[in-house]
Amino acid sequence: MQSLLELMGQAHEQLSQAASLAALDQVRVHYLGKSGLLTGQLKQLGKLSPDERKAAGQEINNAKQVLIEALEARRESLQAEALNARLQSEAVDVTLPGRGMSQGGLHPITLTIQRMSEIFGQLGFEMAEGPEIEDDFHNFTALNIPETHPARAMHDTFYLENGLLLRTHTSPVQVRYLMNHKPPVRVIAAGRVYRCDSDMTHSPMFHQMEGLMVDTDITFADLKGILKTFFREFFEVDDLETRFRASFFPFTEPSAETDITCVHCQGKGCRVCKNTGWLEVMGCGMVHPNVLKNVGVDSEAYTGFAFGMGVERLAMLRYQINDLRVMFDNDVRFLTQFH
Ligand code: PHE
Repeated sequence: MQSLLELMGQAHEQLSQAASLAALDQVRVHYLGKSGLLTGQLKQLGKLSPDERKAAGQEINNAKQVLIEALEARRESLQAEALNARLQSEAVDVTLPGRGMSQGGLHPITLTIQRMSEIFGQLGFEMAEGPEIEDDFHNFTALNIPETHPARAMHDTFYLENGLLLRTHTSPVQVRYLMNHKPPVRVIAAGRVYRCDSDMTHSPMFHQMEGLMVDTDITFADLKGILKTFFREFFEVDDLETRFRASFFPFTEPSAETDITCVHCQGKGCRVCKNTGWLEVMGCGMVHPNVLKNVGVDSEAYTGFAFGMGVERLAMLRYQINDLRVMFDNDVRFLTQFH
């Protein structure tokens, strides 16, 4: 019994010194484990007489119970301490002022498409769209570009599997729209187009905006009027002029390339316009009767015009950007200038 008292005194001492849950568990094992000191005492009981054994057994079991409770109490207080320490170290001061937050902005291409759409919207144009993955029919055949036509080679097409391709222009939206809507139609369609072409001034992916107007009695004069109004609004130049040079597209007849007064030098001649005073900005023309036939529109009753322009080109002219590549580098030093 003398040694049981000593043992308990020792155990309580170690228990109060245990500074962690792991240390506390070591104390438990030391006394109550399989070869623990208290367990050892119980094992000695067999050596005593039956009377002594009963009394001693009770003493040891009482001591054991006391120790278990003390261990449990210590464990709880250690856990509470640990929780408090964690709460303190992870505390967040919600009253501190926030760190400076920067707000994102729209890409200049998006801003340009928005601006173009607003102006055409005021001129009565609705928005249409089509898929970037197209098929031969919509991208070429229906647009009067037959299989063997050299214009197909000109388009530097990215071909996919199953005869699909990445659209090389937004003109297939003309086809899709006319197959689903009866004239009169007056739509624009903006989006990504793809050509297997990449250098200083060409990107394999760029953006176009298509325009299409079909009704009875639409003439080239309507096309000129709409485009002149658009470019004057877009560049905010009241006396900006347009010029139409005869050109060729299989899906328009007649076809034209459109030039505008150089917005850099007001037509005086500069590096941007290579001293011509003019900037080429788009292709356009009267919708070819074959295209109308291909989409089921009566080409005797209806006429129309179509145009297609490069969004990057207009964005670069408007914001005076001289390198196409910055449009696709995603450099925030460039992008934040448009916020
Ligand atoms: N699709 C032509 C191109 O990508 C542009 C265009 C559109 C020309 C509509 C005429 C009419 O070059």
